[in-house]
This record gives sequence, structure tokens and C-alpha cells, in this order.
Amino acid sequence: MHSLLVVMGVVCALVVPSGQVVYPSPNPQETETSFWMDHGRRELTEALQQTPNNNKAKNVILFLGDGMGITAMTAGRILKGQKKGVSGEEENLVWDRFSNMGLLKTYNLDRQVPDSAATATAFLSGVKGNYLTVGVNGKVKSKDCAASLKKENQVSTILKWAQEAGKDTGVVTTAQVTHATPAALYAHSPYRYWQCDSKLKAEGPNALACKDIALQLVEDEPGRSMKVVMGGGRQEMGAGIDPEATKKCERSDGRNLVKEWQQDKASQGKTSAYVTTTGDLKKLNAEGTDYIMGLFGDIHVPYEVDRNKSGAGTPHIKDMVKVAVRRLKRSDNGFFLMVEGGRIDHGMHHGKPRRALEELVAMEEAVRETLEEVDLQETLVVVTADHSHVMTMNGYPDRGNDIFGVTINEEDVSDHLPYTTLMFTTGEGFNYTWNGTEVIRRNLTGVDTTHKDFVPLAAVPTYPGSETHGGEDVAVYANGPMAHLFHRVHEQTYVAHVMAYASCIGPYTDCNRPFNDHRTRYKHVHHRDHDNDDDDDDERKRKGRKGYGKGSDGYNGAPALKSGGLVVLWCCVMLSKVW
Ligand SMILES: *[C@@H]1O[C@H](CO)[C@@H](O)[C@H](O)[C@H]1NC(C)=O
Ligand SMILES: *[C@@H]1O[C@H](CO)[C@@H](O)[C@H](O)[C@H]1NC(C)=O
Ligand SMILES: *[C@@H]1O[C@H](CO)[C@@H](O)[C@H](O)[C@H]1NC(C)=O
Ligand SMILES: [Zn+2]
Repeated sequence: MHSLLVVMGVVCALVVPSGQVVYPSPNPQETETSFWMDHGRRELTEALQQTPNNNKAKNVILFLGDGMGITAMTAGRILKGQKKGVSGEEENLVWDRFSNMGLLKTYNLDRQVPDSAATATAFLSGVKGNYLTVGVNGKVKSKDCAASLKKENQVSTILKWAQEAGKDTGVVTTAQVTHATPAALYAHSPYRYWQCDSKLKAEGPNALACKDIALQLVEDEPGRSMKVVMGGGRQEMGAGIDPEATKKCERSDGRNLVKEWQQDKASQGKTSAYVTTTGDLKKLNAEGTDYIMGLFGDIHVPYEVDRNKSGAGTPHIKDMVKVAVRRLKRSDNGFFLMVEGGRIDHGMHHGKPRRALEELVAMEEAVRETLEEVDLQETLVVVTADHSHVMTMNGYPDRGNDIFGVTINEEDVSDHLPYTTLMFTTGEGFNYTWNGTEVIRRNLTGVDTTHKDFVPLAAVPTYPGSETHGGEDVAVYANGPMAHLFHRVHEQTYVAHVMAYASCIGPYTDCNRPFNDHRTRYKHVHHRDHDNDDDDDDERKRKGRKGYGKGSDGYNGAPALKSGGLVVLWCCVMLSKVW
């Protein structure tokens, strides 16, 4: 991976009359033709020097941003820059610099726009399923318990393949550990919400033969053999401790699955640790403990914007990942780890861009820190999303405009009212009134649109928390062994195949690679041609700103200045490139 860079210089942020901040570009030379010519040449040189990494991946780490569509990543990149005091459009998320990327088709077998359960099944097992189902193939429709119990309808996952190859495995999420995405690693269920036994009982007699997802995690393989399980979900596990938590999925069988998990490990003569706070997590002897479970919420792990940052509080996602990686690196045969930024999705469902994007930026930090802990010669790192959301980035806001701010472009917008850059098509923010003559939008003048709980306008009203997913492709980024296998538009299922192939496990245990030299590199594509497969179907079978910011001796504020604006200007000392 390329070296990261931090720029140092002096910049100033401007506040325009609406109270909005306009952040300056960190690259004063960007108005020069030479700046862009140099930029392009450097990028070309880098591209020309790329060589495929055909190593066998000892380790695989999958980072999954739940609901992290393309818009979220663009906006998150800008937020990352603006948190450093600069405009942000020129910033890079750490995976923006990964060696390879592609796009993924996310549809479920029975839905144009997917949910997180069937999409997770796709990228973890390599098989597409139906809406709301986990760990089962397309023969199983939502809530069809009987069909889900047939072994031939259950799919195997990268978690199991890694364990069969003697690797240590783990999952870290900011959602419940029984939530759709992690559940697809270890569970088979026709309905993702059957996270605890009471949901099955409420469903009626046909569901009773099925096993709740929490129970599958602690009793069944491959969940039972995971060395690291971290996230939220104490309630589903029968181990709730927070009297304030909403009762979402409480066990009615009186079992405490955390205790049972601990007893299970002890009965095997293994050491285990169960932690619920940041302080306990930091004190943990990660290398010296066989099994680690961290549950940091009765429901989910608190949002980054709400989190109690003291030792008695809950960890940042990067703190969880750090412990997980320290533990898993102990394995001689390598490891598989999935990390889910699970609450990007929740912020979006509530129509609250800041909540969602602060989660994205937190996950990005976790990726950045993880890359410092692993060797990309032997570790495949994949970053992707399960699906998008219906948030869009619109208008013509000025460069560096607060990403949560408003724009007023009088030329295009006929009611001449300000509107936010980030808006939703569906959501809670539906807010139109009748003034006696016509329908009018909420007047956002003077409203703090940057607040974590601000909800921008939506075109179609939804129930609380029910802004919908989006159906366009998501991106997949990869670095390390076989990263180059992501190279075009793929079915989402392809992710599982690449991870397994790169590490020679599961369906690719024979490790018979066609890619040993350049002559045979694209052999598999030719095979596909013979198969007569429809093109769409063929899956069946540093920031090198080195120098840019250098010598920057301050910001020339004029371009960001809005005419007639009362400008408050503060200058802050900033960063210069360290390497
Ligand atoms: C709608 O706008 C009004 C102000 O005009 C505001 O008080 C209210 O919170 C808004 N409701 C939603 C759902 O955004
Ligand atoms: C309603 O809003 C429109 C557009 O702002 C304005 O032209 C009209 O005068 C308003 N009517 C009333 C009764 O306020
Ligand atoms: C919006 O609110 C501002 C501040 O209250 C006011 O000056 C402006 O006239 C309002 N715009 C409309 C169209 O009502
Ligand atoms: Zn969702």
C-alpha cells in the first residue's frame, strides 16, 4: 500500500453569513496547469509500475461498510478532509489508493434493491439468495423455515473454509453480532430477524423447528469456533445489562449464551475472555487468550458521535479491530477477519448524514491502522459495501462547502430557498407545507444542518428509521495477493470466490492457479467464452501528494469567499507531509 501523507501548511477556514463553514483547498498550486500535469504523470507512473501480486494469501481481512454506497464514500472523503480543516474533495480515503477495484451488482434473487442479509450471503458464501434470508440459497424464501433446514439449501462460507484450512477466524462489528451481516458468516436462517428465540415463538409453529441466530453463533460450527467475536447484541445473547436499552430481541428461554460460550471454551481446556467496556478491552491479553468475546451494547455498539469515550464506555471500531488482529496474528496458518462498519447503514436509515458519515470515517481509521499491522505480501485486504442508500449529493455547492451544509443556486432552484448538499429520496425528512397558495419546502435559513441529528429533506415519507436502501452497484477495493482479480463489474458473489481463491481454501483448495505467468493470465476468461455464458451471468460458474502541499505557505482565501459575505477568518496551523 502506498505511504500515507499528511500535509502541513497554514490554512484558514471561512464562515459565511449562514453560519456555514467553507474550507480551503490544501493545494494552493492547483490553479496552475503544471499542478495537474504533474499529478497525472505521477498517477500514470504508478499505474504503469503495477505488477500483479500472485502470492497465496495467508490472511484475508474483509472490511464491510454496511450501506456504504458511492455517494457515502465521496461525502465521507470530504468529511475526512474537512475534519482536518481542508476542503476535502481532494482527500483520499485509505482504500481510494488500493491497487485494484471493481463494481458489484447487489440485487437479491427476488429484489431489485437488496437487503443486508442476502447481500452478505452473496459476498461471504459466493451464492446469491432471497431478500431477508441468511446463509441459504435461492430455494429458500423469507421465513420458509422448512426449506432453510434442508442441508442442500444451506451454503458454506469463507468463515468455514478458513477454519477448515486451520486458520483462526473472527468478526468485529458495530452492529449486533447476530445482525444480518455477521449472521451470514455462521448462520443459516430464512429470516434475518430471528436473532433470539422469542422471535421464533412469536412467528408461530412453522418457525419453531428453526434455531435462532444467537444460538447458532454459540452452539454450531463455524460460529462456535470463531476466536474473536466483537460487537453489540447482549440482549440476543441473554446477557443484557443496560436497563435503558429498548427491548428488541430478548431471550424467553432464560439462557445466558455468553455464560454458555465461556463454559464451552473452558470445557475444551481453552482460555476465554468476555469484555463489555473499553477499559476491559484495553487490559485484555489478546495474544494469550484463545477465545475473545466483546459485547459493547445490549443492542448495537453506540454510534461514534454518541460514544462514551472513557474506560467505562465503549470502544472505537479501530480499538476492537486492533485487539482482533493482535489475537488472530498468533495463528501460524493465517486468519480470516471480517470487520463491519455496521452503523453507516443505521445513520442512513434515520436520514441523518452526520451519524452515517462519522461511522464511515471511523471505519476508515480502522482500515488505516490495520494496514500498519499486516504485510500486504501475504494479506489480502478487501473493502466493500453490501448495498447503497438513497442519499444523494446535489446542487452546485462551492468547493470546500461544509459537506453537511446548504447551497443556494438561484439559477436553477425555482423557490430560491437553500437546500442541503446531502438529501434523500425516501426518509423521515419529508417536510412540505401548504401556505394557502402553494406547497412550500422548509426554510433552512439559520438552521444548523451540520448537527448529528439534522434530517435533510426527503421526497417520499417513511416511518422512523426506514429510509430505504439504494440499488445501484457498490464498489469493491482490494490490496494484496490476487487483488487484481477485481477488475470490472462483477456479481457480488464474486467477492467470496476471490477471497477463497487468493487463499486457496474452500472450493479452491487445490490452489491450481492459472495465473502463474502472463501468457495464461486471462485463461479463465477464455474458458468462459466456451461455456456460452451470457456475459452477465459468467459468475455462475499517498495519496502521492508528495510535494503538492509542500512549500504551501498559506491559503489565499479569495476563491472561497462568498460575495457580500461577512467573513470570519481563523487560521490554523496544519500539517506538512511527513512521508
Ligand atoms: C419540518 O420543518 C419544521 C420547520 O419548518 C421543523 O420544525 C420540523 O422539525 C421538520 N420536520 C422534519 C421531519 O424534518
Ligand atoms: C406562498 O408561497 C409563495 C412562494 O413563496 C408566495 O409567492 C406566496 O405569496 C405565499 N402565499 C402566502 C399566502 O403566504
Ligand atoms: C427564509 O427565512 C429567512 C430567515 O428567517 C427569511 O429572511 C427569508 O425571507 C425566508 N425565505 C422565504 C422564502 O420565506
Ligand atoms: Zn439497511
